[in-house]
Order: sequence, then C-alpha cells, then structure tokens
Amino acid sequence: MSSRSSPSPSFLFNAVRRLEVAAGASARLGDTAQAWKPASGPAQALVVTDAFLHRSGLLAPALQSLAAAGWQVRVYDGVLPDPSEAVVLAAAELARGVDLVIGFGGGSSMDTAKVVAVLARPGNTLTLAQLYGVESVRAERLPLIQLPTTAGTGSEVTRIAILTTGEHTKAGIVNSALLADHVLLDATLTLGLPPAVTAATGIDAMVHAIEAYTSALKKNPLSDLLAREALRLLGAHLLRAVEQGSDVTAREQMLIGAMLAGMAFENAPVAAVHALAYPLGGVYHLPHGLSNALVLPHVLRFNRPAAEPLYAELAEVLLPGAGGDDASRCDALLTYADGLCARTGLPARLRDCHIPADALPELARQAMGQQRLLQNNPRPVTEADALAIYQAAW
Ligand SMILES: NC(=O)c1ccc[n+]([C@@H]2O[C@H](COP(=O)([O-])OP(=O)(O)OC[C@H]3O[C@@H](n4cnc5c(N)ncnc54)[C@H](O)[C@@H]3O)[C@@H](O)[C@H]2O)c1
Ligand SMILES: [Fe+2]
Repeated sequence: MSSRSSPSPSFLFNAVRRLEVAAGASARLGDTAQAWKPASGPAQALVVTDAFLHRSGLLAPALQSLAAAGWQVRVYDGVLPDPSEAVVLAAAELARGVDLVIGFGGGSSMDTAKVVAVLARPGNTLTLAQLYGVESVRAERLPLIQLPTTAGTGSEVTRIAILTTGEHTKAGIVNSALLADHVLLDATLTLGLPPAVTAATGIDAMVHAIEAYTSALKKNPLSDLLAREALRLLGAHLLRAVEQGSDVTAREQMLIGAMLAGMAFENAPVAAVHALAYPLGGVYHLPHGLSNALVLPHVLRFNRPAAEPLYAELAEVLLPGAGGDDASRCDALLTYADGLCARTGLPARLRDCHIPADALPELARQAMGQQRLLQNNPRPVTEADALAIYQAAW
C-alpha cells in the first residue's frame, strides 16, 4: 500500500461487540445464550430461519442445546430469499414476548432477525416504514445472536438489512440497532452448502471486499486492512470450498473472510456492483451473489480509469504472482474477474440467466434508484453508463 505523508482522514468505525469462531459451537448455543436469560420466569427465544435449514436438521443441535439450557424456543422458518416485509412482520408477530432473537441462516434469515429484534422489543412504537434509510431513527432491540450458514453476505457483522419492499424493489435499513450482541461462526454449519450457493455467496463476499477498498466516501485504513485480508482469504479458499465442500478448514476460512469483508463494507460501503446487482435480484430473482458475479467484471472495467491503482493493490493480494506496473496488475485482476464464474461453475452472462435483452433499459433505470450505493462508486455512473454495463454483461 502507498505510504501517506498526511494524516488519514477522520473516520468512524462500527463493529459487533462479540465474535466467536468455533467449529461445532452451535451445539453449545444454550451456554452462549445464558447471558441473556431473564432473572426470573421462563426464558423464551425466537429462532429466525428458513424452511430448508429447519427441515435439514442443521438447526437441531442448536435447538437441543437451547432446550437443555432451559429456553422455550419458537422457530420462525418462513424466511424466503430476499425477504419481504410480510416475512418480517410475520416473524415479528411470533416474536412477541421473547427475550432473545437468534438469526440462523444466510443473509435472508439474518437480515430478517435483525429487524424482528427491533420490531418485537416490548414497548417498540417504530414501524417498518420509519426504519428505512441510514440511521433514520433511534432504535433499540431485543438481544440478538447471529449464526451465518453461508459465507457471503457478512450480514452477521453489519447494521444493514435489505428487504424486498414491492413486487420488484429492494430497500435497505441501516441502523446501529441492527448490530448483533454475539456472532457465532461455526464452520460445520456451512459444510453442506451446495457448490453453486458456495460460489455465489463467496463471490458476493469478494465483491464486498473489492467495493469497500475502492469506496469513494468512507474508505479508511481499518476498512482497507479488513478488505485486503478478506480478499486474501476468500481468494485462497473459494475454489476448494466449491469443489470440496466438506473441507472444514476451507469452510472456516471462507466464513472468516466473509465476516472480515462484512466489517469492511459496514464502514466503507459497497457501490456500483451492488447497485446494478439489486435490480437483477428484485426483478428476476437471481440469487444475490450471482447477480453480483454477473456484473462484477464489467463494473471493474468501467471503474478502471478512476480505480486502477487500487485494483492493482488488490491484485497483489489476490494474485501473489501478479507483477509489473499498475496497468498490468489491474489487467491481472480483470482477467481473474472475467473467469470467476466459469471457474466456479456459475453462468457467466445475463442471457444465460434468461434475462431478455430488451429488459436492460428498465434494469438501468432501476439501478439509478440505488443512489445510497452509487455515491460510493469511485467513478460516477449515469443511466447510460449502467445500460452499457448491463449490455456488456449480457
Ligand atoms: N445485511 C447485509 O449486510 C447484506 C449484505 C449482502 C446481502 N444481503 C442480503 O442477504 C440475502 C442473501 O443472503 P445469502 O446469499 O446468504 O442467501 P439466503 O439467505 O437467501 O439463502 C440462499 C439459499 O441457501 C440456502 N442455504 C443457506 N445456508 C445453507 C447451508 N448451510 N446448507 C444448504 N443450504 C443453505 C437457503 O436455504 C436458501 O435456499 C439477500 O436478501 C441480500 O439482499 C444482506
Ligand atoms: Fe452483497
């Protein structure tokens, strides 16, 4: 990294209070939850998850441990990918009277759990509508534990929840109240993640690191440190995790990488890759990580005039063999990004995902609605630019 002769710009850094990395530790969740047990009366917890994870038995050891520790547990397993407001409200209804909320799953379950912990807090008068936006209101919540079962979103360490608000639109809640009390990274929970989900969620995490590192407004020395280490870990272990899913070491390194990337973009927010990915998820229901993977190389190419030196620095981290000047190392990063989908078995083009060419102008129009993200992009993006990027990705 280049040395600076002037002080770093001032910055603010948010992080969760407590983080535990321990393979198998979800089977001791009852011990972890002890800290939030009420002094008297029955202890009640709500687990927020999806039906597949509930049915699969992955949650069973955690539920047994909670029961053995004296918790009465309700399970809301109605979370669907890209959770809707209706999902959040139904889960919040089931959470009435609980002492603790536990998010168990991918970003969809963890994001739902965050908002439920606010809405179900006794005495809460806030509505969902009031929560949208960046720190739009002062909120408080019930105690919250998060257990990710994908290595991707980093939602476990962010104060962000993304909800599907209409038929096709997504909106974000960014609020300090959404930072969890305790995060548990248990790699055994991710061993059964199918290759395509491992690839898509892992690339999502890589994009978090890349976009945090080039974030125009809030990039800072600490987010840089986290983004670089995240990208190093994710790059070193992604293929192994895709090809040999039962490798607990690769799985744990992916979880740590995704979490570090989450901490990075929590403080240096993501930009155009995500802004262009969201309409693909909203309108065509592509998985979040796949949407990112499809537009990534084309956004990097667009950003290059503004971000080449930073991309060259990331190439050093991701591709230790890459040498030469900034331009050649940036080339190496772009070549890597170009081949990422093919290497991990994902479709590489929008047309492979049944997106019609005549849908691109509407997608570009919708991407312009993501100004919260676009303002962080190293290069300003117009609607015409967004359309050209989608066309290149098609
Ligand atoms: N809060 C944030 O900071 C943040 C950041 C990025 C994305 N997101 C949001 O997160 C959501 C995407 O989350 P995601 O990519 O983790 O996917 P997800 O939670 O939507 O889950 C995707 C699928 O993977 C399955 N799955 C999860 N864990 C599994 C396991 N261990 N084994 C087998 N299958 C498993 C789920 O059942 C589901 O079918 C989107 O709504 C996105 O907008 C949030
Ligand atoms: Fe993401």
